[in-house]
Amino acid sequence: MSERLVELAKRRGFFFPASSAYGGTAGFYTYGPQGAALKRNLLESWREQFLTKEGHMEIDAPTVMPESVFEASGHLDTFDDMIVECPACEASHRADHLVEDATDIADAEGMSMSAVEETIAEHDIRCPDCGESLAGVEVSAFNLMFGTNIGPGSSSPGYLRPETAQGIFVEFSQLKEYARNQLPFGVGQIGRAYRNEISPRRSIVRVREFTQAELEHFIDPETDEPPLSRVEEVAVPLYSASAQAGDGETETMTIGAAAETGVVDDWIAYYLGVAAEWYERVGVDMDRFRYRQHQPEELSHYSSDCWDAEVEVDGNWIELTGFSYRGSYDLSKHDEYADEEFTLFRQYDEPITVERPTVDPDMSVLGPEYGSEAAAIAEELQRLATGNPDAFEGDTVTVSVDGEDRSIPVDVTGFAVEEVTESGEHITPHVVEPSFGIDRLIYTVLEHAYREDEVDGEPRTALGLRPGVAPTTVGVFPLMAKDGLADRAQEIVRRLRSEGYTVSYDDSGAIGRRYRRQDEIGTPYCVTVDYESLEDDTVTVRERDSTAQERVAVDELHTHLRSRMTNRQ
Ligand code: GAP
Repeated sequence: MSERLVELAKRRGFFFPASSAYGGTAGFYTYGPQGAALKRNLLESWREQFLTKEGHMEIDAPTVMPESVFEASGHLDTFDDMIVECPACEASHRADHLVEDATDIADAEGMSMSAVEETIAEHDIRCPDCGESLAGVEVSAFNLMFGTNIGPGSSSPGYLRPETAQGIFVEFSQLKEYARNQLPFGVGQIGRAYRNEISPRRSIVRVREFTQAELEHFIDPETDEPPLSRVEEVAVPLYSASAQAGDGETETMTIGAAAETGVVDDWIAYYLGVAAEWYERVGVDMDRFRYRQHQPEELSHYSSDCWDAEVEVDGNWIELTGFSYRGSYDLSKHDEYADEEFTLFRQYDEPITVERPTVDPDMSVLGPEYGSEAAAIAEELQRLATGNPDAFEGDTVTVSVDGEDRSIPVDVTGFAVEEVTESGEHITPHVVEPSFGIDRLIYTVLEHAYREDEVDGEPRTALGLRPGVAPTTVGVFPLMAKDGLADRAQEIVRRLRSEGYTVSYDDSGAIGRRYRRQDEIGTPYCVTVDYESLEDDTVTVRERDSTAQERVAVDELHTHLRSRMTNRQ
């Protein structure tokens, strides 16, 4: 199936390998006219569902970011895959994928490198390119980020972002102002992400440049709750980590029940519900869909819980979207590494009075006694007063500066416990993140829409795309390109375009062949202008899936198509 779909995708302009005039580069694809239109429609639908309807903001950040961002985010240290290089042909392979392909281990990504090495030896796994044994060959970590230099020279290293999310996190202090410093608020971003995948595969399913649509929902974990009632009745197939660890199976539950019984965290459950309804609307076959929870060893470095939306395509389950609870990980890390604060002020309902230990060191004593160390000692005293005020109970207090202990008389520290009234506190919001991969969604929507059937005794290939996302909504054909039929058809094309339809005009070849061409790109409706049209201003409207035809007045075409499309969204 995948070959036939990929062939159709190339022939009809959905997607094809990029730069093939120069031999191509694995992992890069170009979307042709149909694919670009399908992608645009899916992204518009995503934007409406996850940003507009939810009242979230959208930003558009750069794709190149300085190294310091990824030092803070942890991607420099931990965004690795396992690589094994063939000693004979020098081809590089993703070691965990070789294990998955050669054994019944479904998910080897969470295994340690030594366990993968052992499994390769145990199963005598061989190089897929030349057949050489990989037993005993070292498995190592390969960082997936594409590096670059910002400006001339190498003094300012940067990276192509591996996820759009970091572009949102680093702007937190600005974004919280736009949200008037009120939690919860969400910020979305649609854009390219880059990963130097060891082995790109399955056409656009695993590529090196892809599009993500991500939402970072900033919440106060103590007080904010999701609007679960909106999706509590939505039933979803859940494959929990505990079911995977035992012999459990996927269980279909309503979002309400999943949240109430604690199977899924409330915030994640909310987005699983919203997304399930959306997936169905854009054409994912929900009989080939499930939500699978990550096993603890699978979790990314930033995630404390994650459910993936998975779909079955070409006989394999693939990940479409990750719904991750990132907690305070990202904002805390940027707070630690960057010059700005990544916190937000939480106002109390009523001001409260608290005891606050402080110091006011006598620098006229510390200065002469400790010289250049005096300022550091004063800082350490403040830290100690906050963290361990009991340390000031004796005559002296010990602080450590550059690994050396200094014993300071308490009476020169100015230690005191003051009563202060506070109106709120600085907190680090938590982040709930639905992260959609759009290329995999495009592949899924096409694969789930692909069908081969027979019409009037002839084989046909059709894409049963939902009218709301199909690249072309209406194909308009004159029966013949003469006798005024083409002119009338062109008038109808102009009219439909002005009414907002994406219309394709075709006057070449037999009508049957023109229908087939539209069926192959998933056009849901075709309008044929014939001699009768010139007499009574009616046209034939043909529906793609049933191939049923109806005679409709041109003046009623818009209402007719609208009502059909609304019923089929
Ligand atoms: N910000 C979180 C994040 O990036 P992820 O699970 O690594 O999470 C999110 O990626 C989605 O991006 C995936 O569910 C997948 O759809 C898509 N994705 C990731 N790597 C990809 C690749 N190499 N090719 C195509 N899509 C990819």
